[in-house]
Amino acid sequence: MVEKNNEIILIVEDEDIARKNLEHILVKTGYDVISVNNGSKAIELLHSKDFDLVITDLKMDKVDGLQVLHKTKVLQPYTEVIIITGYATIETSVQAMHNGAYYYIAKPYKIGEVRQITKEALLKRRLRLENIELKETLKKQRKISAIVGTSKVMMDVQKTIHQIAPSDINVLILGESGTGKELVARSIHQLSSRSEKEFVAFNCGSFTEELMANELFGHEKDAFTGATKAKAGLIKVADGGTVFLDEIGDMPLSMQVKLLRVIQEKEVLPVGGETSVPVDVRFIAATHRDLKEDVDNGNFRQDLFYRLNVITIKLPSLTHRHGDIPLLAQHFLAQKNKAMNTNVQNIQKESMELLRQYSWPGNIRELENVIERAVALAKGPEITLDDLPEYISNLSVETYRRMDSEMPTLEDQEKNYIKWVLDKCEGNKTKAAKIMDIDRVSLWRKMKRFGMNDGSNV
Ligand SMILES: Nc1ncnc2c1ncn2[C@@H]1O[C@H](COP(=O)(O)OP(=O)(O)OP(=O)(O)O)[C@@H](O)[C@H]1O
Ligand SMILES: [Mg+2]
Repeated sequence: MVEKNNEIILIVEDEDIARKNLEHILVKTGYDVISVNNGSKAIELLHSKDFDLVITDLKMDKVDGLQVLHKTKVLQPYTEVIIITGYATIETSVQAMHNGAYYYIAKPYKIGEVRQITKEALLKRRLRLENIELKETLKKQRKISAIVGTSKVMMDVQKTIHQIAPSDINVLILGESGTGKELVARSIHQLSSRSEKEFVAFNCGSFTEELMANELFGHEKDAFTGATKAKAGLIKVADGGTVFLDEIGDMPLSMQVKLLRVIQEKEVLPVGGETSVPVDVRFIAATHRDLKEDVDNGNFRQDLFYRLNVITIKLPSLTHRHGDIPLLAQHFLAQKNKAMNTNVQNIQKESMELLRQYSWPGNIRELENVIERAVALAKGPEITLDDLPEYISNLSVETYRRMDSEMPTLEDQEKNYIKWVLDKCEGNKTKAAKIMDIDRVSLWRKMKRFGMNDGSNV
């Protein structure tokens, strides 16, 4: 019985007896074989069918073995080529090896020799392909592994990201502050075919309308006083890649019209310009607001909403997935150790329990900050209650459980958190915003909402 290998070999040989002989040896060894009697037929086949190996005679009329070798390497780069050669052309065969042939076999050859070289060439191809596959898988895993979480809802989010990343559809990401909206947007970009091109993030809440147009669309020379030279807008910079529009709900209506045009026409008109430039970008937008409600209230254009919201990804707040907290805490512990060159190995049990119970109004970002601070403060190999901020450590597990009816609201917690950071920074908002990893305008807005403003602007 011949054992089947499922590998397919193309034989190119113009001498009938030699061709049949080679075919016989390889079929008996268990390979599938297709053989042709000239180079042109071989090249035609290479266009339409994949081969694992090509064995070609060197000297043939019209299209010779070197041309078959060349075409194979162009059309099927991972397919190996073995050259069959008469004594007189050994030197050319050596040259062929420099051009990418796997090996040459000199006529007259021994059956064992043909079998051995064929086996090795096929093995080389298999290993190369496995290696490439492995690298691709690792690359993908490394990229996506940044999103930590095993709760059902986070697994679903991961699944959706994988499903939609390869397509060009626009995505709307919803979620409270610090839930990972930007991280998800980056993951989609990295898993897409656009990953080699730019990912440009733009916060629609932190610019005046004029500046926003300038940043997004760019401007021509002399478009306004001081515009000494033309500047490409962020959308053009992201050509071929992804534009992440953060806090899209804060974009003024007049800008929304302009953005809609870019999405529909796939071109941008720089400020002060007369001709539009074509752009190919994918848009991912995010907001912590209820955008549908904004549409209903007339604060957000419905047509733009539908354009951006082809797929929605809703990120849960951390309170709704307490189960992920230990994993996230460990993840940040490892990350901060690496960044700060420390070696805090663990989070003490009671501290972890408190982290699990706390309501995390600032979501994952707040957890990240708390762990970073704890790593910096830890005196031993473990994070203890002493290393946690007072507003968490004061709530020992018991009191926390007793509080039931008087549990603080999310808003209260957020307010306390902001107050705590501001106190630590002695009221310096720039510093505080940096620690909270939000921009100053957002901080200022939150303070205004909580009635914490001291009158000064950002
Ligand atoms: N699932 C996650 N796994 C690991 N890290 C996460 C996860 N989600 C968020 N992070 C980290 O938490 C921080 C905040 O996330 P991100 O900036 O994406 O949130 P956001 O929703 O955009 O916040 P904001 O609304 O404040 O802009 C980042 O450092 C991010 O890397
Ligand atoms: Mg963000």
